[in-house]
Amino acid sequence: MTTPLIRGRGLGRIYGALTALADADFEVMPGEVRGLVGSNGAGKSTLVKILTGAVEPTSGTVEIMGEPVKLGDPSEMIRRGVACIYQHSNLAPAMSVMDNVFLGRQPVGRFGRIDKKKLEADTRALMAKHGMAIDPLATVGNLPTVKQKEVEILKALALEARVLLMDEPTGWLSAADVARLHQTIRTLRASGVAIVYISHMLDEIFSVCDTVTVMRDGRVIAECGIAEVRRARLVELMVGEKLARDSAAAASVARRPGGTGEIRLAVRDLSKKGVFRDISFDLHAGEILCLTGLIGSKRTELMRVIFGADRADGGSMTVAGQTVDFHSPGAAMAAGIGFVPEDRHRDGLMLGLSMTDNLIMSTIPQVCRSIFLDRSRVAATAKRLVADLAIQPPDVNKPARLFSGGNQQKILVGKWLNLGPKILILDEPTVGVDVGAKAEIYGILRAQRDAGAAILVVSSDLEEVTTVADRIAVMVSGRMVGIHDADAIDRSRLIEEIGGVA
Ligand SMILES: Nc1ncnc2c1ncn2[C@@H]1O[C@H](COP(=O)(O)OP(=O)(O)OP(=O)(O)O)[C@@H](O)[C@H]1O
Ligand SMILES: [Mg+2]
Repeated sequence: MTTPLIRGRGLGRIYGALTALADADFEVMPGEVRGLVGSNGAGKSTLVKILTGAVEPTSGTVEIMGEPVKLGDPSEMIRRGVACIYQHSNLAPAMSVMDNVFLGRQPVGRFGRIDKKKLEADTRALMAKHGMAIDPLATVGNLPTVKQKEVEILKALALEARVLLMDEPTGWLSAADVARLHQTIRTLRASGVAIVYISHMLDEIFSVCDTVTVMRDGRVIAECGIAEVRRARLVELMVGEKLARDSAAAASVARRPGGTGEIRLAVRDLSKKGVFRDISFDLHAGEILCLTGLIGSKRTELMRVIFGADRADGGSMTVAGQTVDFHSPGAAMAAGIGFVPEDRHRDGLMLGLSMTDNLIMSTIPQVCRSIFLDRSRVAATAKRLVADLAIQPPDVNKPARLFSGGNQQKILVGKWLNLGPKILILDEPTVGVDVGAKAEIYGILRAQRDAGAAILVVSSDLEEVTTVADRIAVMVSGRMVGIHDADAIDRSRLIEEIGGVA
C-alpha cells in the first residue's frame, strides 16, 4: 500500500449556524483521478478550499505524503505542492504565456532584467515534458479558454504541484475542448500527480475519473471505483430518490416544436461584420428553442445583438409583429425581453447584495407603491421565488456571494422569471448547476413555456439541449446551419452538425 499523496481526516467547517462540511475523510493516491460530486451546496468547494489553504477548517487534519500540514495557509499549501484550477481563470490576461507560467519567478539575467530567452526555453521544456503545445510568447487573453486552462495547469506544474485540484474546470468549454483537457489530465496521472476533479457533468466524471467521492449536506456519503457504480445510482446518491426520478422524467416530457404557432420573435438576415452573417429564425410563443454550437460559434454575440447590448449592421427583427431596433438592453427589456447572461459573476448578480435585493432588482417598478418600496410585498415575492426554485439555504437576507454556485444561478434565473418576460433568453443557464437543480430549472422553463413564454436557450451542453429543447438550432462560425424539431435529430447527427467530437 502506498501512502496517499493527500489525506484529510475529520475535516469540518462551520459558518455560524450552517455546517458547510462535517467530519469529512478524504484521500487521493498518486496517479489517481478522484471525482468529487454532489448537489449545489454539498460542500465540495469548501473541502477543496481547505486543501488549498484558502479556508481554515473548524476541525480535522490534513497530511501530505504522510506529513501533517499547517492549515489555513495558502502559501504553505503551494510549497507542499498543492495547486488549484477554478472555473474562472486566475491568469494575467495581458501577459504572455511564459510570464504567467513563471509569474514572480522569472529567471533574471544581467542588469536584473528578465532573461526572456531562458524563460522561453524553460516554458518549452516544461510543455514538452507534459505533452502540451502553446506558443510561450502568445498573450494569454488572446488564447481560447481551453488553452488558458492548460496555461493554468502549466503554472501549477512549474510550481511542481503533486496535487491538482480542479473545481468545475470545464464550465465554459466545448465538448472537443473537454476531451483535450481530459487528455492532459491523463498525461498528468501517468506522471503520478493526484487529481481531484469536481464536476456536475456526470459524463465527464465517467470519462476521466478512476474513483468518485459523493458528498451530500456537508458529508462524504459514498466512495467507490468508477467502474463499480452506475450513473443512475450516482444521481440517486447525490440528490435522493425523488429528485433522481424527477431528473430522469425531465428527459421524457412531451415536446412542443413550434409552440402555439404565434411568432413572438422573428430574426431576418441579421448580420454583424466579422462576427455573424445572415441569421434568420422564428421563435414561437410556447416553445423552447435551444441554440447550440461550439464555443466561438458566436451564439453569445448574436444574443447580445438581439438584446440590444450590441448593434447589428444588417438585417431586421420583429417582436410580436412589430419591427424593432434596440439601441440598449433597456429598450429590449421594455419590449418584454428578459436575458439571463452567461457569466453570473460578471454580468448577472450583485454579489454583495442579499438574495432578496437581487431577485427584485429587475422588477422594482412592479413592487413599488408610490416612491417607497413595499417591503412586505418584496419579502413575499422573494419568499415565493425561493420556494419555487428550491433555493438553498432559503435565507433571503444572505448576500448572494455566500450561496453555492448552483444556487446563485437559480437566483439569477429567478430574477428574470419574476419579470414575467414575453421572450426569455438564457445563455448557458445551468453551468455549475447540479442534476437536481437542473431538473428544477427545466421544470420552471417548461412551466413558463406552457404559460405562453417564448424561450431561447443558448447551451453547449448536449444533454441539456436534447432534454429541454422543443427545437434545436445549430450555429457554426457565425452562420446558422440548421434548425430541427428536437425529436427529429439524434445526438450523433447533432454532434456531426456542430462539428465537435463525440
Ligand atoms: N463564506 C461562507 N459563509 C457562509 N456560508 C458559506 C460560505 N462559504 C460557503 N458557504 C455555505 O457552505 C455550503 C457549502 O458550500 P460549497 O461552496 O462548498 O458547496 P459546493 O458543493 O461547492 O456547491 P456548488 O456545486 O454549488 O459549487 C453552502 O450552503 C454555502 O452556502
Ligand atoms: Mg462549488
